[in-house]
Amino acid sequence: MNQDSVVYLNGVFQPLSDAKISVLDRGFIFGDGVYEVVPVYHRQPFRMAQHLKRLENSLAAIRIPNPKSTAEWEALFLEMIRQAPYEQQVVYLQITRGVAPRDHGFPQGATPTVFMMVNPLTLPTPEQVEHGVACVSAEDFRWHCCDIKSTSLLGNVLLRQTAVEAGAMETVLFRDGFLTEASASNVLAVKDGVILAPPQDHLILPGISCDAVLEFAPMIGVSVDRRPVSRAEVLAADELWLTSSGKEVLAITTLDGKPVGDGKPGRVFKKMWAYYQTQKP
Ligand SMILES: Cc1ncc(COP(=O)(O)O)c(C=O)c1O
Repeated sequence: MNQDSVVYLNGVFQPLSDAKISVLDRGFIFGDGVYEVVPVYHRQPFRMAQHLKRLENSLAAIRIPNPKSTAEWEALFLEMIRQAPYEQQVVYLQITRGVAPRDHGFPQGATPTVFMMVNPLTLPTPEQVEHGVACVSAEDFRWHCCDIKSTSLLGNVLLRQTAVEAGAMETVLFRDGFLTEASASNVLAVKDGVILAPPQDHLILPGISCDAVLEFAPMIGVSVDRRPVSRAEVLAADELWLTSSGKEVLAITTLDGKPVGDGKPGRVFKKMWAYYQTQKP
């Protein structure tokens, strides 16, 4: 990221190189914060309302009072988008509990730290869309509050590194024999033309792109079965997909070195990918 890029920190738009926070910020000391990542196409945010709702839920879950109203967040996002030099962007927002002497309990009267930056949006390459990507699998050893979009991401970081070291795109996670999600994506399976989606509970993040895909399913004539999905069902699936703001929807064509279905992006994936493209701003 260019050091001159404009970032937002606690009310001030400033060059990245000038943006400084205290080493006592609880985001640094404890990972005590939440974040959002909003994709922006042609300077238009995708599903802003849903991202702001998820932000509100994450803040409420960790009991940080929301420092801004929805209208104020919207205005701030639009200003960040306006100032950034890219047409396709990804806006990152992080809110921490603020700066305080190190003590696990919540500090009295700390002001939340609010940080935003914009990076260029890097979508999957045409080759990845056409051929799909390789993934590995691992046991999901994260905490039980994965529905909170928390900056405490050590579990996700370690699990992603498993994929990196295997030359794979993502690590697909199973908890007690059931599919949860991946290190930074949701995972959907397709069997006999039906999308199988793990339940939206505290074991997975409510992904905005996953919700979009599930909402688009009837539009492409596909039904959704939202229920626990076993490892055996994942291994026998016709198709597996990743969804995330940066990946949109992407086919997994090998899992742990074995082909998914016939080893090529499936028929339902192709329809969904094409439909998704029509729904972007
Ligand atoms: C753990 C996890 N699950 C799912 C997702 C996908 O969420 P979204 O579609 O809102 O990007 C992400 C996004 O980074 C994530 O980190």
